[in-house]
Amino acid sequence: MFNSQVYKTRRQKLKSAMSSGLILITGNPESPVNYPDNGYHFRQDSDFLYFFGIDQPGFLGLIDIDNDTDTIFANDVDIEDIIWMGPQPAVADLAKKCGIDNTKPFNAIFESIATAIKAGRKIHFIPAYRAENKILLQQITGISADRVRDYASLELINAIVSLREVKDDFEIEEIEKACAIGYNMHVTAMKMCKPGVVEQEIAGTIEGISLSGGNIPSFPIILSQNGETLHNHNHNNKLQAGKLMLTDCGSESPLHYASDNTRTIPVSGKFTEKQRGIYNIVLSALDGTIALTKPGITYQSIHLEAAKIITKGLIELGLMKGDVDAAVKAGAHAMFFPHGLGHQMGLDVHDMEGLGQIHVGYDAETRPIDQFGTAYLRLGKKLKKGFVITNEPGIYFIPALIDKWEKEGINKEFINFDKVNAEYRDFGGIRLEDDILVTEDGCRILGERIPIYPDDIEKIMSEN
Ligand code: GLY
Ligand code: MN
Ligand code: MN
Repeated sequence: MFNSQVYKTRRQKLKSAMSSGLILITGNPESPVNYPDNGYHFRQDSDFLYFFGIDQPGFLGLIDIDNDTDTIFANDVDIEDIIWMGPQPAVADLAKKCGIDNTKPFNAIFESIATAIKAGRKIHFIPAYRAENKILLQQITGISADRVRDYASLELINAIVSLREVKDDFEIEEIEKACAIGYNMHVTAMKMCKPGVVEQEIAGTIEGISLSGGNIPSFPIILSQNGETLHNHNHNNKLQAGKLMLTDCGSESPLHYASDNTRTIPVSGKFTEKQRGIYNIVLSALDGTIALTKPGITYQSIHLEAAKIITKGLIELGLMKGDVDAAVKAGAHAMFFPHGLGHQMGLDVHDMEGLGQIHVGYDAETRPIDQFGTAYLRLGKKLKKGFVITNEPGIYFIPALIDKWEKEGINKEFINFDKVNAEYRDFGGIRLEDDILVTEDGCRILGERIPIYPDDIEKIMSEN
C-alpha cells in the first residue's frame, strides 16, 4: 500500500468534489471457478484500491460526506480461517494503513444504510460489475440487482474520474514498474518467436514472467500469428515462417497499476519488404501521434490524425486512393484500422472503464463520433497533464470485413479492392502500442521503449 496519507487525501478530495450524502465503495469478494472454495485469483476492485488500498476480499468502505467520517466494514478472521489460511491482519490494523479508525462488522452495513435512507440521505454508489456486488447492493438498497447499474451516482462517477485520471508521481512510478515487467515479457516473446513454436508456449512463458514476480497480467494476453483478429486469445497455432506474430500484453505492478504494449514481429526473424511497408506506416502513425500528444488537444483529433497517416501510407502503397481528408471523413480507413487509437491506463488497463466509457472518455465539449471504427474510440476529450494513455494504431487485413465492404460497395471510391485481395488478403495485422504520460508541454513514453524499429527487432531475434 501507499502511505496512509495518500488514501486520506484521496477521500478528502472526493468529499470536497461531492455535495452531500454517503458514498459506498464495494470491494470485491472472492469469486469461485468451479465450486465454492476453488476461487479465481483475487483481484480487488480498482476504486476500492484507489480510496482504501486494502487488497483483501470482503471489505466495504463508507464515506460520509456530511459528517466527514470514513468507515471500513469487514469481518475479522476466526480460528477456523486461521487454521486454513494462517494468521491474518486484523481489520482494524488494515483500516489504520489507509488512515481509518472506524471499523464495523461487514453486516453492519445494512443497518447503517437503512438508517441513512430513513433519514432521507442520498447513498452514492458506483456501477457494480460483479454479480455478487449487484446482489449485495440489492440487499442494501432494495434496488433490483439487474437495475443497480442504472442507479449508480453520476455525481460520484464524475468525481472519481476527475481524481483518478490525473496521475501522481508515485502512481507513475508504479506504472513504470509495470512497464519494466512488460518490457521483459515482450523481449522474451521476441527471443522465443521461431517457426514451429506453438504460440501458447510463448504466451505461457511471458505470463509466467508477470506471475513469477508476484503480479498478474493486466489483461488476458493477446498473442497470435493471426493478428488481424484484434483481441485474439487463441494461442493454438504453430508459428509459420512468413507470418507476423502480434503480441499485446502487459503486467500489473505490485500495487495493481497496469502496462499495455503491443509489438508485431516477423516469425522468420526478418521482415519482408511488403511487411516493412505496412509496418513503417503503423510506426509513423504511432510516432506521429506521440508527437501530437500534449495537454489541451482532444484525443479524438489525434485519433483522426492517426487515420490520416494510415490513409496516406495506404494510398502510397496503392491500397487506397483519392483525397486523404475525404477518405478519413468518409471513414474509409476503418476497413484497415477498425478501432480507436487508445485509452487511459492506470489501476485498470482500460482505466475506469467500469464507470462507463462515456463518462471517462468524453465530456460536454467532446462527444463520441458514431462512425464505424472511430465509434470504438474509448477516449475523445481534451488531454490534461498527468493523463496516462496508450497510443496503439494498427493496420489489419480482415478477410470477412474486406468481403463485406467489397460486396456492399462501401467506400469503393477510396479502396482498391482488387489490389487488397490479390496481394494483401492473407497479410494478417500489425499493431504497435506504447504507454504515454502527458506532461506539461508534451508527453513521454513510460518505461524503456520496447524495441520497435525493424532493424532492432531483427537484431534481438537473431541473437537466439
Ligand atoms: N487490452 C488490449 C488493449 O487495449 O490494447
Ligand atoms: Mn494492448
Ligand atoms: Mn491498449
